[in-house]
This record gives sequence, structure tokens and C-alpha cells, in this order.
Amino acid sequence: MAAAARGARVTAVDVSRRALAAAAANLLLDRRRVRLRHGDLLAPVAGARFDLITANPPYVPSRSAPPRRGIARSWDAGRDGRDLLDRICADAPGAARPRRVLLVVQSALAGVSATCAALSRAGLLVGVVARRRQPFGPVMTARAAWFEERGLIAPGQREEELVVVRGVRPL
Ligand SMILES: C[S@@+](CC[C@H](N)C(=O)[O-])C[C@H]1O[C@@H](n2cnc3c(N)ncnc32)[C@H](O)[C@@H]1O
Repeated sequence: MAAAARGARVTAVDVSRRALAAAAANLLLDRRRVRLRHGDLLAPVAGARFDLITANPPYVPSRSAPPRRGIARSWDAGRDGRDLLDRICADAPGAARPRRVLLVVQSALAGVSATCAALSRAGLLVGVVARRRQPFGPVMTARAAWFEERGLIAPGQREEELVVVRGVRPL
């Protein structure tokens, strides 16, 4: 929505038909045009190349693998929170045009250095461009004791840092 409001030609992908319906309703209310595509990550736009790729994927560590349906598919991302992040780091760099940009947002709990390392391995120039601390929401709060047990957070910690990682594809 933000990119469309700035005049970009935007394609948005989601595996959830409900999320796409919500996006369609918001676009109608805002009178914006965005191509909505249903499917898994980049599969619906296979072969296309983009100037900017943004991703706000599920990144919350979860006891089991990401579910195939239901609301938790929006946040559950496997034991280390990286199931989707790792796939994006592997696949998205090839979909960016030379000198163009990938922006990924994630919680610091899911390993910012792992994202930076994976994007570097994929040939991008990588940096963290934004950080924000915020209180845990309901999902994180419900898992706080488990995160403490695993050493993902300090005892009593109930805040997380959200981080935006930028990768630039060189010429
Ligand atoms: C944190 S929410 C972000 C929602 C929205 N795009 C935004 O930025 O506000 C994560 C979204 O990823 C979608 N998702 C989960 N697994 C996916 C996959 N394999 N391919 C595409 N979308 C996926 C979920 O349905 C959910 O809408």
C-alpha cells in the first residue's frame, strides 16, 4: 500500500486467500492499484525481476513446523523462526534487478546475523537499516517462558527488537 501510494507498480503475494481479501478491501478503500497474487513466496511471480522486494514474513519461533492453514500461518516459523526467512534469503536475491534492493523485516529473536550471512552468500551487499524495540504482543508473551528456557531472551525480557535488513544486488 505504501509503495503504491508513492507511485510504484506493485505486485503483492500471499499464500492466504483471507490475507489477499483483506488487502483487496484495503486497496478498494484507499483507491490504490496493486496486483494481488496467491501462492508460495516468489512462485506466482517466477521469472519476474523487481526494483524493490519487501518481505514481512512469519518469523516467530514455534514448537512445530509452520502450519499449512489457519491464523498462526501468519507468524509461526519453525523452531528458530527462520523457515520462511531462509527461503527468502535463498530465493529473493535472484529476483532483484542489478543495483536494486531487498528489504526484510524480522524479530532479532530469529537471528539477524543469519539473515545477513545468507544474503551475503547470495551475493548481496547487506546492512541493517532500521531497528525498533517494542513490547511483546500476545503471541510472543504466550511463548516467553519457552524462549527463556531456550536462551532466546533474557529472564524477564518482554520486549523484542524488530530489525529491517537491506540487501543490494551489485551490478
Ligand atoms: C507477518 S504477516 C504479514 C502480512 C502483510 N503482508 C503485512 O506485511 O502486513 C505474514 C504473512 O505471510 C503470509 N505467508 C506465510 N507463509 C507464506 C508463504 N509460504 N508464501 C507467501 N505468503 C506466506 C501469511 O499468510 C501472512 O499474511
